[in-house]
Amino acid sequence: MDLIGYIDSKREEHLNELKELLRIPSVSTQSEHKPDIERAARWVAEKLHAAGLENVEIVPTKLHPLVYGESLHAPGKPTVLIYGHYDVQPAEPLDLWTTPAFEPDVRNGNIFGRGTADDKGQVHIHIKALESLRNTYDKLPINVKVMIEGEEEVGSVNLWDFVQSNRERLKADALIVSDTSMLAKGVPSITYGLRGLNYYQLEVTGPVQDLHSGVFGGAVPNPITILTEMIAKLHNRNFQVAIPGFYDDVSAVSRQERKALNALPWKEKEFRKTVGAAGLAGEKGYTIVEQLWIRPTLELNGIWGGYLGEGAKTVIPSKAYAKISTRLVPNQDPAKIAKLLERQIRKLLPKTVHCKFEVLSLGKPWVAPYTHPIFQKAIHSLQSGFGKKAVFIREGGSIPFVTQMHDTFKVPCVLLGFGLPDENAHAPDEHLALENYFGGIKSIALLYDQLAKP
Ligand code: BES
Ligand code: MN
Ligand code: MN
Repeated sequence: MDLIGYIDSKREEHLNELKELLRIPSVSTQSEHKPDIERAARWVAEKLHAAGLENVEIVPTKLHPLVYGESLHAPGKPTVLIYGHYDVQPAEPLDLWTTPAFEPDVRNGNIFGRGTADDKGQVHIHIKALESLRNTYDKLPINVKVMIEGEEEVGSVNLWDFVQSNRERLKADALIVSDTSMLAKGVPSITYGLRGLNYYQLEVTGPVQDLHSGVFGGAVPNPITILTEMIAKLHNRNFQVAIPGFYDDVSAVSRQERKALNALPWKEKEFRKTVGAAGLAGEKGYTIVEQLWIRPTLELNGIWGGYLGEGAKTVIPSKAYAKISTRLVPNQDPAKIAKLLERQIRKLLPKTVHCKFEVLSLGKPWVAPYTHPIFQKAIHSLQSGFGKKAVFIREGGSIPFVTQMHDTFKVPCVLLGFGLPDENAHAPDEHLALENYFGGIKSIALLYDQLAKP
C-alpha cells in the first residue's frame, strides 16, 4: 500500500488513539493535575516508541517533564527537530462547554475537547505521520528528533535549560513545529512570523486595609479608581499604545510584504463573525491583518479588587490588581519594553498609593525569510496533502521556543499549523477540524518523504 492509502486506511484508528490523549487533563498551570501531566508524558513516550523512535526518554525538569525520542538511520539525509507540547490550558469555565472538555466528542466534522487544536491534535499528527512512514517504508526516510514539552502554556520555563545542555544532541537542519493556525479552512499555511509576549502584574495599594466607604469615602484614595484611570491612559484615541518609546524600535515592514499579507484570502466578514462584538477596535492606519500580525499591542487580561461577591458591600478596597500583556514585533526588545511600561506607570501613579510592578515573563518576537529550499518542499507537501493552494502567513500568537531556536541555532523554522483561528484555543468548546487533522498527517508524512529526495 502506498503512503497516502495507508494513512487513509487508518483514519478510525488514529482518531481513537487521539481521543486517549485528549482524555488526560494535562493542565500545566494547575498543580492538582501534576499526575495527569506525568500520565500524558508517559502516553507520548509510549506512542513515540510505538512509532519506531529510539532512545525515548521522559526528561524531568524543575516543573513538568519533556519527552524526547529520535530515529537516526538515514545517513546523508536531512535531520529535523520536531517540537510540540502535550500540556493544555485550563478548561474553565466548565459550564460553557457543550460536551465536557476532557471527554472528546466528534460533531459536524470536528473533534471537540481541550487540546484538540492546541496542541495535542497537532502533536498526534506528527506521531502518526512518522508511524505511517515507518510502516510503509520499513524505516524513516530522514533523521528525526522529537521533543514534546509539558510547559508551553506556562511559558516553557525549563525548556531552554534542556536545550542549552543538549546542543549537540538536538542539532538539526530544520525545526518543524505544528502549533499554529491555517489562515482559513481550505487554505493550508506556513507561518513565518510570530509576535513576542511580555506578561505583567500590577498591584496598587491604597489604605492599609479595606475601609467602610461611608465613613472614609470622599477623603481617601481608591486603588481601583486610580488603577483604572491609569490604565485608561495607556492608549490614545487612535488605539495606539501611549507609552513613550513603545514604537521606537518597531522595524518597518516593506510595502511589498504588506501588499502580500493584505492580498491573502483572509475574510474580514468571517473574522467579525468569530469576534461577535458590535464592532472592531484597532490601531488607526493599519488593516486588520496588519493590526494582528505586524503591530505591537498592550492588552488588559484581567482586573480585579474590592468586593466581588453577591449583592452589595460598601467598601473602599485596600488593593486593586491588573494583569497586562504586551505583544511585541521585530525589533522590539522585551526587557526594554518592560522598563518603558513600568516607567510610564510610575509616572502616571499619584503619590497617594503604592504600586508593585511584576514582570511575569518576557518573550521575543520572531520573523524570518522563507528562502531556504525546505519551505518550497513544505508548501508542496501541504498542497498535496490538502489538494489546495498553500500560503505564507504571519500570526499574532507567541511560541517563545521558536524565537530562541532561531536566534541560537540559526536553523530554518518551519511552522505548519493545522488549527483554525475560530477553533476556540484556550476557550470553551475548543475543537479541531477532522479534515485538517487527516490532511495534516498526510502533509507531514509527504514532507518527510520529500526531504529525503534531492
Ligand atoms: N499555540 C499557541 C501559540 C499560537 C497560537 C501561535 C495561534 C500562533 C497562532 C501557544 O500554545 C500559546 O498559547 N502561546 C501563548 C504564549 C505562551 C508563552 C503561554 C500565547 O500566544 O498567548
Ligand atoms: Mn500551543
Ligand atoms: Mn496555547
